[in-house]
Amino acid sequence: MSDNYLNFDKSKNYIKESSLHLAGGVNSSFRTGMKPNALGFVSGEGAYLLDMDGNKLIDYYLGMGPMILGYNPSSIKKAIQKGIEEGIFFGAQSKYELIAAKMINKLLPSSELVRFCTSGSEAVQASLRLARAATRKNIVIKFEGHYHGWFDNVLWSNKPNLQDAGRREKPNLVAWTDGQDSHSGDSIVVLPWNDIKILEKRLSKGDVAAVIMEPAMCNSGGIAPVNGYLQKAKKSCKKNGSLLIFDETITGFRFAPGGAQEFYSILPDITILAKAIANGFPVAAITGSRKLMSLLTIGKVVHGGTYNSQFLSMIATVKTLEYYSRNNFHNDLNEKTVFLREGLEKVFFDEKITSVLSSFPGFIFCGFGIKNQPQEYRDLLNLNTEMYISFCFEMIKRGVRTLERGAWFISIEHSKEILEHTISIVKDSLKAIKNN
Ligand SMILES: Cc1ncc(COP(=O)(O)O)c(C=O)c1O
Repeated sequence: MSDNYLNFDKSKNYIKESSLHLAGGVNSSFRTGMKPNALGFVSGEGAYLLDMDGNKLIDYYLGMGPMILGYNPSSIKKAIQKGIEEGIFFGAQSKYELIAAKMINKLLPSSELVRFCTSGSEAVQASLRLARAATRKNIVIKFEGHYHGWFDNVLWSNKPNLQDAGRREKPNLVAWTDGQDSHSGDSIVVLPWNDIKILEKRLSKGDVAAVIMEPAMCNSGGIAPVNGYLQKAKKSCKKNGSLLIFDETITGFRFAPGGAQEFYSILPDITILAKAIANGFPVAAITGSRKLMSLLTIGKVVHGGTYNSQFLSMIATVKTLEYYSRNNFHNDLNEKTVFLREGLEKVFFDEKITSVLSSFPGFIFCGFGIKNQPQEYRDLLNLNTEMYISFCFEMIKRGVRTLERGAWFISIEHSKEILEHTISIVKDSLKAIKNN
């Protein structure tokens, strides 16, 4: 790479060596394949990451979402340093899980009882089991483009092409990965999101245990629910004896202290929380009404996990949740988001880039090559992803790390100066891709 730009050779060599010992040199399929190559990091502070080549990068990955307080916040660091003197892990109850659960029940409108686990994927599985037990029904509806973790039974139609996806009104189930149990979709129905008529029609058959959705679709694009969709989905679920599950792995604590359910004023039956719940510690949770969650209490529904409510992770959860009760936290996060979004909008306009932008507190989506705001997964299929990937490459060469799928995660550590600097890099990067 030219001398004027950052160099990532040490990371490249590291991945080359680690590939001899670690499968693919990484520990998640979603960490491979970035241009110029997957990076290795040595430390993080605020909105910055320091990589193995010594590059200080402004980061908008935020670890795929969790690091909403920025990297290495001192309040969490200090609490963990103190906590580690008391223990690491008991595989049993400790005081912080109770404090954390009380805080969640206060913050989240639909939450009366909480169960902790260690990842969003696991929490999703627990929620589906709970819903099936509560309704004595088996079918689960999920939506094209929505992601609910990497387990077989929900890894359907995450990113199908149009041909495989089939008819919009009755989409095919499209597996994501080799090795996926072909029967794991037997009780899954995939529908297009944001179309209430199609959802109501399928629910009316009366055999659906649960409808699971990201309340705003942040894994494919950044698509808000159309007016009234969530309310009508809830109503139809209730009418047909089905439960509504909000997978708030991304939206939780980000859109508002009470997540998307507060932001859109709608109470799901079950909520999945993860990522911003503990700013980088492996914590997730399912929550719901006392009545529903009691199925776990009386042992009717089995839910286990050696590392659930791990001692230090619960300290981090408490320390992270403390931020969300602060009056200004979400206003501040939203102001930063709007500032960046408006800056991006202006630059895209000035540089005549055909693009769409959407934003929610702490999250922005940008896509190139389409003009109209997408409303569902299929509207994203005309995005110019190749151009966007080239743009990310130009950005990282100039010191700003952005996700190639168009998502930007913003933390409270992204100061106005950092955001202004980012916008100037965006301008330079766009000029560069136009000249290439
Ligand atoms: C909406 C949603 N659900 C579930 C998951 C899976 O969470 P985890 O990676 O913690 O297993 C993710 C991860 O990105 C997600 O965005």
